[in-house]
Amino acid sequence: MADSTAQPRFTRRTFLGWWMASLMTATVVTGLAPILVFLWPAPPKGQKKTALTVSIGKPLDQLADGDAIKFDAPTSPNSAFIMADGGGDNAAGELAFSGFVVKTQGKVDVFAINCSHLGCSIALNTDAKSFDCPCHGSRYHLDGTVLHGPAAYPLSHLKWTQASDPTAIDVDGIILGF
Ligand code: FES
Repeated sequence: MADSTAQPRFTRRTFLGWWMASLMTATVVTGLAPILVFLWPAPPKGQKKTALTVSIGKPLDQLADGDAIKFDAPTSPNSAFIMADGGGDNAAGELAFSGFVVKTQGKVDVFAINCSHLGCSIALNTDAKSFDCPCHGSRYHLDGTVLHGPAAYPLSHLKWTQASDPTAIDVDGIILGF
């Protein structure tokens, strides 16, 4: 004989509980998804980190002390250099679209063009042998150290190696793909 006091296995209360839980889970996932995509965006299609070969117009071993040569990232495909370090407005991993290869006291350095104050492009002052920023007056020695503020940090380095062509260097960069 059947037990008339036994509870049904799946009551309306159970159904409503599961339904509410599903609804809340869906709401939370829907709300979190855009935040997660914002925090960890997928890399755009076509982006690729690579060494970018740029011409410096003369063999590296013929650079004289005080020489500073500007170079630009390739535009076809659209590319950028990746800063190796930095302070102020610059930081390791930030992008630069131009740079300078400089020889001072027998040492060759390659710098990103971005002023460490607020990121404007510095320009070579050939008379004063300095890099000057047109935005707020910061100036840098050719070795990248600050000569005059408001910049408080030196120029960012770009990581580079000599290319197989003696008049070119390979600089760490990224193909942006757009
Ligand atoms: S951005 Fe160069 S001095 Fe301000």
